[in-house]
Amino acid sequence: MTGTDFLQLSPAAAPARGLTGWLADAIRTAIMDGRLRAGAPLPATRLLAGDLGVSRGVIVEAYQRLADEGLVSGRPGAGTRVLGVPRPADPDAAGLGAAGPAAGPPPVPAGWREQAEIDLSPGVPDLSGFPRAAWMRAERAVLEQASVTELGYGDPRGSLALRTELAGWLARTRGLRAGPGDIIVTTGVAQALALLARVLGARGLGEIAVEDPGSRGARDDLAYWGLRPVPVPVDEHGMRVGELARGQARAALLTPAHQFPTGVVLAPQRRRDQLDWAAAADALIVEDDYDAEFRYDRAPVPALHASAPGLVAYAGSTSKTLAPGMRLGWLVPPVRLRAELTEAKYASDLGSPALPQLVLARLIAGGELEQHIRLVRKRQRSRRDALLRALREHLPEARVQGVAAGLHLLITFPGLTSSDADLAEAILRAGVLVQPLSWHRQRPGTPGFVLGYAAHTADRLHEAARRIGQALVSGRGVSGPG
Ligand SMILES: Cc1ncc(COP(=O)(O)O)c(C=O)c1O
Repeated sequence: MTGTDFLQLSPAAAPARGLTGWLADAIRTAIMDGRLRAGAPLPATRLLAGDLGVSRGVIVEAYQRLADEGLVSGRPGAGTRVLGVPRPADPDAAGLGAAGPAAGPPPVPAGWREQAEIDLSPGVPDLSGFPRAAWMRAERAVLEQASVTELGYGDPRGSLALRTELAGWLARTRGLRAGPGDIIVTTGVAQALALLARVLGARGLGEIAVEDPGSRGARDDLAYWGLRPVPVPVDEHGMRVGELARGQARAALLTPAHQFPTGVVLAPQRRRDQLDWAAAADALIVEDDYDAEFRYDRAPVPALHASAPGLVAYAGSTSKTLAPGMRLGWLVPPVRLRAELTEAKYASDLGSPALPQLVLARLIAGGELEQHIRLVRKRQRSRRDALLRALREHLPEARVQGVAAGLHLLITFPGLTSSDADLAEAILRAGVLVQPLSWHRQRPGTPGFVLGYAAHTADRLHEAARRIGQALVSGRGVSGPG
């Protein structure tokens, strides 16, 4: 034997004499730098001696030295284990510097999810409906058939099989004209935004226009990666492009097919204005197509990217169709940004995990993804209808918006006197988690609540609406029904 996995020790690296000291030094260093933590077992002396090709006496002696120093426990027969060593209590003492300022409160405060009996957070599909059987069948087939090359480090843009299927899927369902070479597989829209922020920042961009109200998560993500989100108001036609054009931003993040959280579809004139702005200002539109698959009673609108691939970076994912935990998404950037984005993806993680990509490719090719979406769409539509009925009964004053598509709707109360954040706390005390609209705003506006309905049965939605109604009446926000 010439070495061991344990601390990657090799006697070839040891001095000809003094093997014991060399081994004790190596283990001591690993304990001090944290590679060996309190409680970690050291290898049995006989095994380590065999692996290193040295006499067992060398190992016993080295362990004894460490035991004498109080670094390991040395009870014969019980195995040798690492003992704790004092460590700095705070990161400053370790020379890591102080933590930077927090970007703001997270979208859902700590503890809220645990308190809620019914969680109406938007953006989560019915995870109990995940197509486990289809996924398992596809994964088995992939494992049987994947070539060794497909399991290696591949193209950082992702598996060719998935990019080929995605190109067809996005052409069929969203009108995109993109080949496999135009697509970068990501770990979700979130990573697409992170890569874009990195690349745009490196090109000297400091800010990006975002919808107001708009996705708090997306905004925080961009800010984390160094772009300052500048709010541009949204009205019933989508982002007000006139205000965007008066600002300095040379990039804008939009949700054109289903604005988050209002549910507005970007109006035809605004689409044209938006593209004109990008062409005239040499700017980039980032299209977040986060839940495009779920459209119930309105005509489909193609992606903005379909009209101007050179001006739009298109991002989507399976977070709403399959599950957010899959972390599978895609980015279709303009050609001029492709090389830099591919480099950023490579620097981030060398490419997304191969197996889930191959499974998704198979589910698209075999039609299972489409079948799943059809099924879920039907279920979600009937849940939306149930929530609408319940809202009419228990919250007749609410103005309901954004019902034609997606996994959530918005209720607003133009005459509401209390803050929606305070009322969301009162609603939470009644057992229901709703996100106040103000969380998704950068400037003050009409109070309201975002209600995600996809993950709940009609009965639960009815109960949620009843409790929201009661909490609002006792919070004196609105008058009761009838
Ligand atoms: C509007 C919007 N954009 C982006 C995301 C992040 O999506 P992903 O899970 O694909 O990273 C979400 C998640 O809920 C969202 O609601």
